[in-house]
Amino acid sequence: AAKEEEETMGNLKQQLIKLFDASLKLTVPDEPSVKPLVEVGKFEDYQCNNAMGLWSKVKGKGTQFTRPLAIAQAIVTNLPTCDMVESCSVAQPGYVNVVLSAKWMAKSIENMLINGIETWAPTLSVKIAVVDFSSPNIAKKMHVGHLRSTIIGDTIARMLEYSNVEVLRRNHVGDWGTQFGMLIEYLFEKFPDSATETAIENIQALYKPSKMKFDADPEFKQKAQKAVVRLQGEDPVYHKTWEKLCEISRNDYAEIYQRLQVELEEKGESYYKPYIADMIEELNSKGLVEESDGAQVMFIKDFKTPCMLVKSDGGFTYDTTDLAALWYRLNKEEAEWIIYVTDAGQQEHFDRFFKAARQVGWLPENDETCPRVSHVKFGVVKGEDGKRFRNRDREIVPLADLLDEAKTRSKDALIERAKDKEWTPEELDQTAEAIGYGAVKYADMKKNISTDYRFSYDEMLSDKGNTAVYLLYAHARICSIIQKSGKDIDELKKTGNLVLDHANERALGLHLLQFAETVEEACTKLLPHLLCEYLYDLSEHYTKFYSTCQVNCSAKETSRLLLCEATAVVMRKCFHLLGITPVYKI
Ligand code: ARG
Repeated sequence: AAKEEEETMGNLKQQLIKLFDASLKLTVPDEPSVKPLVEVGKFEDYQCNNAMGLWSKVKGKGTQFTRPLAIAQAIVTNLPTCDMVESCSVAQPGYVNVVLSAKWMAKSIENMLINGIETWAPTLSVKIAVVDFSSPNIAKKMHVGHLRSTIIGDTIARMLEYSNVEVLRRNHVGDWGTQFGMLIEYLFEKFPDSATETAIENIQALYKPSKMKFDADPEFKQKAQKAVVRLQGEDPVYHKTWEKLCEISRNDYAEIYQRLQVELEEKGESYYKPYIADMIEELNSKGLVEESDGAQVMFIKDFKTPCMLVKSDGGFTYDTTDLAALWYRLNKEEAEWIIYVTDAGQQEHFDRFFKAARQVGWLPENDETCPRVSHVKFGVVKGEDGKRFRNRDREIVPLADLLDEAKTRSKDALIERAKDKEWTPEELDQTAEAIGYGAVKYADMKKNISTDYRFSYDEMLSDKGNTAVYLLYAHARICSIIQKSGKDIDELKKTGNLVLDHANERALGLHLLQFAETVEEACTKLLPHLLCEYLYDLSEHYTKFYSTCQVNCSAKETSRLLLCEATAVVMRKCFHLLGITPVYKI
């Protein structure tokens, strides 16, 4: 029991739900299926909204209650006594308002400071999840869309990991499509004696001319299509060239991932090839495969276009691999939740393919029941002019350039800002990187990701408003206040007491305590912007507190330093979940 208590320590909402659940069981014993409706309060800290709904259920059934307010009163009376709740009141027509005990809140924050932010981690019911993200296509450049997928997918993975889920981070690279036939055939034609060596030099320059030839020259097109089949049939020469191409791209990607500090494991489309035959066999045995113009397809209820399983030339498609990969993830990896992060343009593909998987019986009809699949779709990245994001030459902006630029600009700003400060070159470089990359990541996630977003260096690197720069500075300032006090904060954690007297101290404390439920919501609803909003609000609460409550050299210095430290700890955890490196000096 002690363990359980510890686990939910940080999650206010969960704890209140438990209390109200106990109360509801006593208040309306004939309605055992009623779930407590607890939310952050409009008037007080939290509120419970069950009485109104219950009233319409029980009235006219010989109930003792005369109106919703009477039910609310009974809910209050039946609430188990606990340290957490200071008082409850009822309001028309039947709300229960909850005021938390400031003493209990302070204790909970003290506990977190001593035992670490991990004690506030939510526990989800899912044990193993796959996050399929980043997933660029070999031999094509990784573009801003893949950057978005990388950033968002990483944060989703981090939130799940923090919530005690085992996450399989999967890079589903496009290493097995039609483009390889085209690329390899083009290489063979242009460099008959040195195809593989040439590939190393020219992979990026290869795509465009080979695609042009593919589109313009029907004979070449046919050859390329045959080459895909040869490749998929493991022809050694084709296979070797393909491997080279993959390797070159892989090294390019690795550099980007390292810069962004994103870890993921490549299991590309080709990885699932050995499972395709059995997968199609299963669909066949269930009578789901049909012949259409020489191709094997599976028709899906409510979808005009079928899933293409085997093309008339024998080649497999994006659909085929996704089905095989899903089978593998469900059966070999035993994932209970599989999350795909791509741009919204792929919505139809995922809708159809999810439906196909339900039709085969791999997934339950109800998409809330495990195993679950989710498509996290994000909007297009646009340039400052509102058009598709391109550089001056109207080319797609390579990712490395974009990161370089963010870093350079943030370095310039740092030098400008900290003229009188002493920085070692390494310090400056690391800080510029943390801020520059952090800005790119934060800008990507701060609004609901399903919306398109405008990429603007000036906006994301501004030190005002809801930006990573502003938040990183806020964190560094808190750290410097603690440092300036000259107190040993670790010692204070053990011996000092936190008291939440002032209204702004209390408001900040309450917000800190809402961290766990925010992560849980952001993670179960797959909405990273909820975490960004939380972080920004935290800095606002902190500013209010700091502008009204003197910290250093005040009578309440110890308590207030502890509150500063708790704020810094929670901010750092937010940064960590967003893949942003905190800075301590500005
Ligand atoms: N390679 C694809 C693209 O760049 C994304 C793959 C997403 N994952 C998946 N299992 N389909 O568009």
